[in-house]
Amino acid sequence: MKFFVDTADVAEIKDLAASGLLDGVTTNPSLIMKAGRPMLEVIKEVCSIVPGPVSAETVSTDHKKMLEEGRKLAKIAKNVAVKVPLTPDGLKTCKVLTSEGTMVNVTLCFSAAQALLAAKAGATFVSPFVGRLDDIGQDGMHLIAEIMTIFRQYPDYKTQVLVASVRHSQHVIQAAKLGAHVATVPPNVLRGLFKHVLTDNGLKAFLDDWAKTGQSIL
Ligand code: E4P
Repeated sequence: MKFFVDTADVAEIKDLAASGLLDGVTTNPSLIMKAGRPMLEVIKEVCSIVPGPVSAETVSTDHKKMLEEGRKLAKIAKNVAVKVPLTPDGLKTCKVLTSEGTMVNVTLCFSAAQALLAAKAGATFVSPFVGRLDDIGQDGMHLIAEIMTIFRQYPDYKTQVLVASVRHSQHVIQAAKLGAHVATVPPNVLRGLFKHVLTDNGLKAFLDDWAKTGQSIL
């Protein structure tokens, strides 16, 4: 399973990229606003830090302008994945950009039918938002299960399921159990994956005992 980080904070991205476990980055207009920096500059910088796909989101809602934005974003670097919304105009744009060799991430997916349409439009990634479904009392992971079941029936579809709106480690574990291709995870959740209290306690106990031996390895 690939791990993307869901942030436009370059310092966070640099830090996490140093772990060697980061396969890509996703951003959205809200994350760009939070970063407080010009989008094109941020995307260019992130693309030079992380070699994997870096999602940059279009903000127009009509096909013509969305395509223009998508083409401009795609020119920033080879690893840009243009994000388009799951709307008729978004999918039309997805088809054109894909035919031009640009990676496309179809975002704001909330149903299996929508995911099917994204796959038919040739999306590189489709992003179902699990946390936002949980927020309204629906089961986000059930949607991932449905999409994975459908995609397995059609091996011709090359679209990768990118689990988005991840809120906690259990979302990541469940997504991995279902065979989802990618999870895009906020930095705090990504760091949380490393943590276990028994790891911390166990390490402390080993190091305390080691100190008592008076030995050194080097
Ligand atoms: C995905 O690409 C989105 O940027 C993101 O996962 C949205 O998550 P949120 O629901 O926490 O805003």
